Amino acid sequence: MTTSAPRHLVLIGMMGVGKSTVGKKLATKLAYPFIDLDVEIESRTGKSIPEIFSSEGESGFRRLEAEVLLHVLDQPDPLVVATGGGIVEGESANALHTATCVWLTATVETLVKRVGSGEGRPLLNGNVEETLGQLLERRRAKYAEAATFTVAVDGKSVPMVVREVMSKLETSC
Ligand code: S3P
Repeated sequence: MTTSAPRHLVLIGMMGVGKSTVGKKLATKLAYPFIDLDVEIESRTGKSIPEIFSSEGESGFRRLEAEVLLHVLDQPDPLVVATGGGIVEGESANALHTATCVWLTATVETLVKRVGSGEGRPLLNGNVEETLGQLLERRRAKYAEAATFTVAVDGKSVPMVVREVMSKLETSC
């Protein structure tokens, strides 16, 4: 039997679903470094996500996001990567196929509870519930296309979600 090199583990899904929180715990369990793509974009540009949206618009942000994603996925040693919710809309979404992608799903109701007023998330400055619903509908098929497997987070604690991801990783990869 041949064993292939471990691939990056990438968390995808909507804003507020818990990609960063779950990602950090998974990184500890797997002993992989953890990268939050939004934090990486902020540290490379020296600007916050809202500042990037206001100076370069959403399209400028997507270009940066795609560039940073490609750079991160190009690292030889496996990483756990938490992406921003719109990663599947960027130019480099295809690159996600090189990684093991876990789609964390939640109902709009759960997402609304978690994002609160949407502060710090430039796309959520109107009606939060309506915007999240529209974004989810627009992205659902793209998340499904990129996902190696899916874990629903509604009503589950972070340790429960982490256990479920770990167990699906053992059977799916
Ligand atoms: C976005 C999600 C955000 C951030 C940016 C755009 C989106 O990340 O990348 O505000 O388009 O869904 P989180 O999913 O970590 O909130």
